Amino acid sequence: TVLILDFGSQYSHLITRRIRELGVYCELLPCTQKMADLHFQPKGIILSGSPYSVYDKDAPRVDPSVFDAGVPILGICYGLQEMTTFMGGQVDACEHREYGHAVLSVRKHPNHPFVDTLFAGLEGDNVQVWMSHGDQVSAAAPGFTVIAETRTAPFAAVAHEEKPFFGKLSQVGCEWSEILTRFIYLMIGIQFHPEVTHTVDGPQLLRNFVIGICQCDASWTMESFVDKEIERIRSVVGPIDHVIGAVSGGVDSTVAARLMHEAIGTRFHAVLVDNGVMRLNECANVKKMLGDKMGINIKVADAADLFLGRLKGVTDPEQKRKIIGNTFINVFEEEGGLIEQELERSQSDGKIKYLLQGTLYPDVIESISFKGPSATIKTHHNVGGLLDDMKLKLIEPLRELFKDEVRALGKILGLDDELVWRHPFPGPGIAIRVLGEVTKEQVEIARLADNIYIEEIKTNGYYRNISQAYAALLPIKAVGVMGDKRTYEQVIALRAVETKDFMTADIFASAEWFVCLKRISARIINEVKGVNRVVYDISSKPPATIEWE
Ligand code: XMP
Repeated sequence: TVLILDFGSQYSHLITRRIRELGVYCELLPCTQKMADLHFQPKGIILSGSPYSVYDKDAPRVDPSVFDAGVPILGICYGLQEMTTFMGGQVDACEHREYGHAVLSVRKHPNHPFVDTLFAGLEGDNVQVWMSHGDQVSAAAPGFTVIAETRTAPFAAVAHEEKPFFGKLSQVGCEWSEILTRFIYLMIGIQFHPEVTHTVDGPQLLRNFVIGICQCDASWTMESFVDKEIERIRSVVGPIDHVIGAVSGGVDSTVAARLMHEAIGTRFHAVLVDNGVMRLNECANVKKMLGDKMGINIKVADAADLFLGRLKGVTDPEQKRKIIGNTFINVFEEEGGLIEQELERSQSDGKIKYLLQGTLYPDVIESISFKGPSATIKTHHNVGGLLDDMKLKLIEPLRELFKDEVRALGKILGLDDELVWRHPFPGPGIAIRVLGEVTKEQVEIARLADNIYIEEIKTNGYYRNISQAYAALLPIKAVGVMGDKRTYEQVIALRAVETKDFMTADIFASAEWFVCLKRISARIINEVKGVNRVVYDISSKPPATIEWE
């Protein structure tokens, strides 16, 4: 495993991705991680970039024992600057911020075999790299030597002159021969970003570091992940106890449920809560897919009236989210109680002890970032409250994976393409897409319009190009004319965005797409009663958000 310490750079996740793509397992943890509390022994450490300057008063600092861990360290951008400051060098603001392509000249270091290993395949004076920094090293720390430079960055890459040396015996619980090969202590810092695609040979450089220098195995594959995770689930849950988990029809909860079912069969109980604000025919479809097709033990809790009753008269978006979140917990707990009673009746020895959640890696990182939880923009619906009330332990088989890795896992587990590539759908469902009060009738209008929209997107081959699309129902009326008669009806807003991480998003737009939108608009107005106007939302995120509420 490689440890990546995150100083908050927008590229930190990319370092993690690139290394996993090499087949090497790595973990991204906040830079404040104490080495003494690490739950694994890393074979190498990478220090990420950061939006901070090392000389800022509140600049993030690394645990000093990182530099004493006895494994090779690679500092990238801020990581290099942090390493330099810590070791007694100097970092200053550049006269001009450098953002973009740069050409790197790599120096030969016959006495330093690790420099050659690091730059294997990137030799010469014309290595294309990507820079993004406002500060740079102005004096290397004592003991460091320049191993590559660019026109504007004389310290574009530095390495410790005397190290490598061998790790201290006290840190090592293994044979001498292994010490010689595994515990080499090397410090390298680079100003450029090998993790972004503009650094053409970035993957090669990272490979050279993690496989060549740190000597990690490139054996991490999704198939190996499946086997290991199934084994892990079995050993955690044991031979008799049961697991309960909510499913929604989305890719994360379906993949988590499928994995759990593979591991413990019918001792996994999936619960689908019908909250009355799901998509058209969603409950029946999910039940068919998980229950009939995959053989998962699934129960549908029909709570549509309860949810809609509690939402009556409520128009505030945050209020809607809270009501839906709390009601969800009530219904899920009640379902859990019923399943438990059934287990007792059947005189099963096991009890429900675990709650399955499809938490992904970005959610985990977000919540443990050194910056602390970011200000609440929207309260996202989750089932966290269940743990306290139901006294369950959490089990999260996807917590190490990124979204596209979950999709790859879904494919390995035999899920249909349609499901694997499904757009995300928010927990509070159509309730946050019906602006204003949520009634059965309003939900039905939004649902029918959305169904036509998604159907057309699929038939016209746009579904995979769009990251998320949906129809929202606006709480206003507009005048129209249909068959010579004046109409006064509601407005549907169509949204379609392209995004990688859902943190920022651009609208989906092209000349052909607008022609398609014309057809979709005509279909919605003709087929959905109560709508006489369709608009397309052309706001990007930020300043707008993807959902309207
Ligand atoms: P926003 O509207 O914040 O949405 O730009 C970003 C992504 O999150 C989804 N979203 C939610 N997902 N519960 C969820 O499970 C929620 O409460 C929720 N609110 C927004 C949204 O659909 C988009 O994919």
